[in-house]
Amino acid sequence: MLLSVEDLRVKYGAFEAVRGVSFELRAGEILGIVGESGSGKSTIARTLAGLEKPSAGKIVRNCRRLQMIFQDAVGSLNPRMKVGAALDEAIKVGRPKTAPAITAPELLEQVGLSRAVLDQYPRELSGGQCQRVSVARALSCAPEVLIADEPVSALDVSVQARVLNLLRDLRRNLGISILLIAHDLAVVKNVCDRICVMEKGVFVDSGEAEAVFDHPLSDYTVRLLKAVPSI
Ligand SMILES: Nc1ncnc2c1ncn2[C@@H]1O[C@H](COP(=O)(O)OP(=O)(O)O)[C@@H](O)[C@H]1O
Ligand SMILES: [Mg+2]
Repeated sequence: MLLSVEDLRVKYGAFEAVRGVSFELRAGEILGIVGESGSGKSTIARTLAGLEKPSAGKIVRNCRRLQMIFQDAVGSLNPRMKVGAALDEAIKVGRPKTAPAITAPELLEQVGLSRAVLDQYPRELSGGQCQRVSVARALSCAPEVLIADEPVSALDVSVQARVLNLLRDLRRNLGISILLIAHDLAVVKNVCDRICVMEKGVFVDSGEAEAVFDHPLSDYTVRLLKAVPSI
């Protein structure tokens, strides 16, 4: 178990955005948190990354390195830096001495991009390519856990599946455990081992992905399921 969260509460002033949430992230799994906009998903992610302080509850981190990737991949990259230079810098600053050495082209290969991208600026890339670059940058510091907060929400539907497949490959090839956050059940459906459904600061459903889909416990999950386009 890499992360354990027990009865987590997070407040913004008097407003409690996360109202007692418990879950664990197991080694080698992809865990989904899904819920409508405003339900508190990003607050959980930011708190796990140490960017917000819990007002109550307990977080146990059994992993040394945790990295985040965000919805706005383009905005998270430095517009003035070529991809190669940005990755070189990320490796220099973030790569732990204990991890095997890696180069920028190797990082790009891990996310399915060609070397040609090294010489390009973020604005020259598609949204999907930018998200792959931000995944490559996250991989530069050899994370054990990746928190992906709506990583495909800004992408065309046709590109979404390919980026989600990349996350699956990372889990398989590098053994990285992933917390995948989405507002859309379709996104987590084929990728996650387990799913937590979040509504207004609490989990209203959770379990093996198949069980949550086949036997939803809450009306809220049923509503989210109805919004999933059948393929
Ligand atoms: N920095 C903040 N200050 C005050 N309220 C916030 C802040 N960030 C988020 N919120 C509120 O907390 C709730 C949960 O937000 P968030 O965690 O971003 O939800 P989600 O990621 O599920 O869309 C929302 O009502 C949002 O308006
Ligand atoms: Mg969010």
